[in-house]
Order: sequence, then structure tokens, then C-alpha cells
Amino acid sequence: MDQAEILLSDREFTRIKRRVYEVAGISLSDAKRTLVVSRLSKIVRAMELGSFDAYMDHLERGGSSRDGQNFINALTTNLTRFYREDHHFAHLRSYVGELIAAKPRGSRLRIWSAGCSTGQEPYTIGMDLLAAFPELRRWDLKILATDIDTAVIARAAQGIYPESEAQGLSTERLRAFERGSDGTLRIPDAVRELISFKPLNLIGPWPMKGPFDAIFCRNVAIYFDKPTQGEMFGRFNKLLAPNGFLYIGHSENLGAGGDGYRLVGKTIYQSKAIASKREAA
Ligand SMILES: C[S@@+](CC[C@H](N)C(=O)[O-])C[C@H]1O[C@@H](n2cnc3c(N)ncnc32)[C@H](O)[C@@H]1O
Repeated sequence: MDQAEILLSDREFTRIKRRVYEVAGISLSDAKRTLVVSRLSKIVRAMELGSFDAYMDHLERGGSSRDGQNFINALTTNLTRFYREDHHFAHLRSYVGELIAAKPRGSRLRIWSAGCSTGQEPYTIGMDLLAAFPELRRWDLKILATDIDTAVIARAAQGIYPESEAQGLSTERLRAFERGSDGTLRIPDAVRELISFKPLNLIGPWPMKGPFDAIFCRNVAIYFDKPTQGEMFGRFNKLLAPNGFLYIGHSENLGAGGDGYRLVGKTIYQSKAIASKREAA
């Protein structure tokens, strides 16, 4: 190590945990202590603040919104990959196939990737659907992709990924990407045009009205406590179209937010078609 590590006291760790919980709903367990030290000490050093207490004082007593955002960005976990939990995309494909058969050409189709990290999830949705149903180019298809971490949103919007992201993808799936001269994987314009990347805090206000035909919120709720999870899944239900689908991560469940859904597959929930929703859709 080239620099002496900044020590994190129990009191400082408690302050950090409280702030990230209040702002982002993220519950940091004690096991995350080392991660907190390594991620935040870079910032503390760069700001020449000397201690975590001085850093928290700065954030709490009028640090800029950029400082506050950097704090959150540093504490999120952004692990993701193309075609993660493949069965969700197969399920969505079959649902969209049914919608195409049932609705007039050019109909509206809305999908939300909530907690999209660096973009692999919404791009997988877009690439997979366009490959399966080229006629969707003539539909009103839009994919909203949001995350609280502004740094990952900026990277996602570029749509350029290192060659290592190709690992594990079949030749057929790789064909959906363009290749840069440096071997990078590039998302084709036809797919990029479907997706809007926006910063959004899932525990804050949501400006969207919906309804969404499908919501992906995978491997995000694991960072929240049970009440925060329940509230979020309940809010998704209000934005889902009747019979629309919610896809969650492999280790997650809806807990107290499960009213209004029926389980239809592994970590796949369908919104029950209640009368008030049918009128709104
Ligand atoms: C592990 S990634 C999951 C990415 C993708 N959904 C997947 O399953 O591959 C979790 C993401 O949730 C985001 N996140 C955490 N708390 C959030 C919040 N309060 N609002 C919105 N996004 C949040 C993080 O920034 C991170 O990018």
C-alpha cells in the first residue's frame, strides 16, 4: 500500500451507515466495513480532509450536491452482465410475442430497468427483443433505464464495453453487437435509440406515470432492508399494467410488497388485473 490507511472508528462507520441508508435506502452490514474504508478513503484523501469524521462533517454541513453524489456512487455495488438470469429474457420474449399477436402494429410497449447499473440489463432487453421481433422497430417501444449512481448511468449511456464482457455469450448473441477496431463491444444505434438512461433514486419520488408492461428490478432490493423492499415492490405494482410482469433477483422476494402480484415463475411476478388498473391502462 502506498498510503497509510485512514482508520475508521465505530462512530464514523455508524455515521456513514446512517447517511447511506437515509439517502439511498442502502443497509450496510458490518461485513462491509473494509469495503467502506477502501472506497471512501480515496475520496477523503483527494479532498485532503484527514478523517472520515471530517468528511461526514463536510457532507452534513453543506457539502455540494456533487460531493453528496460521489459519496453515494462510491458505496453502490454495480455488478452486472449481459443476459444475467437468462430465463427472465426468455419469459419476456414470450410475453412480448403474445402482445404482438394481440395488439395492433405500432402499439405502445414500455419496459423499465430499475437499478440498471452500467446498462447490460436494458441493452440485453433491447437486443434480445429486436432480434426476436424485428417488427418492433415499427412499435412504440421504449425502455427506461435508471440508477441512483450517476457514474454508472454515464457509462451505460456510452454503450461501449470491453471485450471481456463477451465471455459466456453465444456466437448468435454476440452477433447483435457491433465491434470497435479495438475489439470493444458496441451497442448498435437501433438498440440505443430505444433506451433512455436517467438517474433515479428508488426510495425517492418517481416522476413516471407508467403503465409499464414489464419492470426489471434485479439484485437491487438485496441492499435494502425488508420495509424498504416491501414499499418499493408495492410502488412498482401501481406502475405495472394489468397482467404486466415484475422480474426480481434470484435471492430476492417481495415480502410485504407482494399484494397485487401472483408468482408465475422463478422470481417472475405478474401484476393482478384489478379493475382500477384496467381503467388506467
Ligand atoms: C448489483 S447492481 C444490479 C444491476 C442489474 N439490475 C443486474 O441485476 O445485473 C445494483 C444497482 O442498484 C443500484 N441502486 C442501489 N440503491 C439504489 C437506489 N436507492 N435507487 C436506485 N438504484 C439503486 C446500484 O447503484 C447498482 O447499480
